[in-house]
Formats: sequence, C-alpha cells, structure tokens
Amino acid sequence: MLIQVPAVLTPEQVAQCRQALDQAEWVDGRVTAGHQSERAKDNMQVPEEHPIARRLGEVILAALERKALFIAAALPLKVSAPTFNRYQGKQTYGTHIDGSIRQIPGSRERIRTDLSATLFLSAPEEYDGGDLMIEDTYGLHRVKLPAGDLVLYPAASLHRVEPVTRGARLASFFWIQSMIRDDGQRTLLLDLDTSIQQLNRVVPDNPAMVQLTGVYHNLMRQWAEV
Ligand code: NI
Repeated sequence: MLIQVPAVLTPEQVAQCRQALDQAEWVDGRVTAGHQSERAKDNMQVPEEHPIARRLGEVILAALERKALFIAAALPLKVSAPTFNRYQGKQTYGTHIDGSIRQIPGSRERIRTDLSATLFLSAPEEYDGGDLMIEDTYGLHRVKLPAGDLVLYPAASLHRVEPVTRGARLASFFWIQSMIRDDGQRTLLLDLDTSIQQLNRVVPDNPAMVQLTGVYHNLMRQWAEV
C-alpha cells in the first residue's frame, strides 16, 4: 500500500527544520548505503548521529504520534531515527530496494524495514525533477508532495529519486517495523479500521459495531508482533 499522510509537520515546523538544516554539516549520502545501493546513490545527508538530526528527528517522531492516519496505516512497532537528505545539481538515486535490516546506531537493537517513509521538506515548486518513483504490482507511482507531507510505502518495492535539475530537494526519511509484517494484512486492517470509523459516524449505536470492532482486534491479536 502507498499512503500519503498530509500535514505531518506544520509550515512553521517545516521552516524551523530547514533553518536548522542550513546550520548542519552535510556529507556524501553513500556513507549509509549498502553495496548495491551505493552505486545508485548520489545525494547529501546529515550524519545520523548529528545533534541537529537527532533534535529534528524527535520533532518528527512526536508529530507522527499525533497522526491517526500514520498510526492506522503503519501500525508501528519501531520507527528508525529520521535522517535528512538533499539533492541538487542533477543529483539522483537510481532504482534500488532499501536494506531489510538496519542496526540502530549506538545500540545493539535492529529494526526490520517493513515500510519506508519520506517526509518532504521542500515545496514542489522550489525544484524540478526529484520525483520519488515507486514500483509496485499496480505499476509505477510518481510522488512529489507539499512540504510537511509524508509518503509511506512498502520497503520491499523498487524505487528511485529522479535527478533534481533545478533548486534543491530536502527531505527526511526513515523506516518502520510494523506490528503487521505482511503488507496485504496491514492493508486489510487499514480498510477495516477506516470502514469502522465511517460507520461509527453514521450508526454509532448499532450493536453490529461492537462485533465489527471486535473483528478488527481479533485479527490484530492473530497477526500482530508486539
Ligand atoms: Ni530507498
């Protein structure tokens, strides 16, 4: 499933992030790439351990906790620390698949990357190119969102970032290990959750609502890892 989560950050928060990122040191993005993706990757990143990245990452994680759509769609168990990247001057990231397991820096903990997330920090009109292209069984999807919006997509999908031919594209990216590993099951749960919310507005007192809500929780009980 590919989900757009609008307005994760407010325009003020986006402006604060960008101001802080101007002060950060930027390094070649290949430092965090795996063997295959290293050849495809050409961008700049703020080092994961950089205090500015850590501080802004906390702002993003706190904002995500308040986003009901993100929680319902991702059913997150673990979220990696958000990292920041920049593409400009024809920089690009060719077709690749994100690594499946990531070590959490400075700890022995690992995260399985079920979902990839990109949070856009530049407005689409500030740059040309830079579209995130995601391939799934339904075809190729082109994603370029307003600053502050987030896209969530299966980390198992092939994807790329097209060359940025004008301006600069700033974004934050991170991964989610979901309580529901399987994308199909997770999509089903989101559909069920969304229908329950809709029905709750129309027929809140119908006794079948209790049973339907129970079905959601019983499926979670069968499938979830916590
Ligand atoms: Ni990627």
